[in-house]
Amino acid sequence: MSHKRLWIPGPTEVDAEVLREQTRWMIGHRSAEYTKLYEGIIDKLTKYFQTKQNVCTLTASGTIWMDITGRCIVKKKALAGVCGAFSKRMYQTIADCGKEVKPLDVKWGRAIKPEMVLSELQKDEYDTVAIVQNETATGVRNPIAEIGKAINREFPDVIFVVDAVSSAGGDYLVPEELNTDILFTSTQKCFALPPGLSIACYSTAALKRAGEVPGRGHYTDLKAIHDYYGKKHQNPTTPNISLMYALDYQLDRMLKETPKGRYERHLEMAEYTRAWARKHFDMFPEKGFESVTVSTIENTRGEDVAELNQELAKRDYQIANGYGELKEKTFRIGHMGEWTPDDLKSLLWHIDEIWGL
Ligand SMILES: Cc1ncc(COP(=O)(O)O)c(C=O)c1O
Repeated sequence: MSHKRLWIPGPTEVDAEVLREQTRWMIGHRSAEYTKLYEGIIDKLTKYFQTKQNVCTLTASGTIWMDITGRCIVKKKALAGVCGAFSKRMYQTIADCGKEVKPLDVKWGRAIKPEMVLSELQKDEYDTVAIVQNETATGVRNPIAEIGKAINREFPDVIFVVDAVSSAGGDYLVPEELNTDILFTSTQKCFALPPGLSIACYSTAALKRAGEVPGRGHYTDLKAIHDYYGKKHQNPTTPNISLMYALDYQLDRMLKETPKGRYERHLEMAEYTRAWARKHFDMFPEKGFESVTVSTIENTRGEDVAELNQELAKRDYQIANGYGELKEKTFRIGHMGEWTPDDLKSLLWHIDEIWGL
């Protein structure tokens, strides 16, 4: 069936078979059948993330984990890296939860470095550090492994929360290798599913912290979510069962490709896009810190991105304009999820033709 091919950083293309999985008949969310489905999903996610941490899926988009961080993890004060629109949201959400939070601001397009984090942690008493691994607005990939290592070495009691919404499932992310306490994502990006679910890996330390922090709310209570799974192997509230079917099916496909295989496919697309961008334009992110899943390209030729998208739409394609204040100054290609390097070459061929490159 003809449809628009989405080269935006989410929602992304969903395979027709995966879409079809959502049309299964409903089952009760307290039935043995659902328990089996959910246990299978947790098992597959645990395998995919190669983790011994706890794993869960919530019926809410990824932002819920920013609220969970604010409500269940930050005890007294958090440090939040701010390097673009989504990391700004993380900072603001923690503040909206009534917690003290200091922004660690870096210029958009630049990455947050371990020494910047350490230098802040040495100045004050922080109990949480929150960083966005893949800043979807700027296309910057923050060095989470190095930051996690530094925090773990110098401040082992600090809980390290990482937003991997636009990278997990594409980029190669193993919680234990990154020293993350919470690593969360959404289904509509590299997992190539419809929007509506979030996925997270969380450590025993994160869970212990949640048990010590009052006012966790209901839907956002990490301890209650964990305890309910422990008792019933189900979700505390009614989940989106249709999406769970799709996730279960998609995880089989993802495991078959393997996490490393997916990473290599995403990296190949990223490298091809960067070479194309550097030939005709320039990359917006600091060199060496470019995302593997979304390329933010500096519009050095002053092309009309909105007009390009109108032309692309006639050919059933869509890319993303720059985000917020970066609109028209940059444009973004979300090479994530189902797409392959050959698909990417077709997209770039169309852009070349429309812009006469
Ligand atoms: C890095 C990042 N964090 C958070 C979000 C918000 O995710 P959701 O819309 O699933 O709540 C997005 C969405 O694009 C994102 O790119």
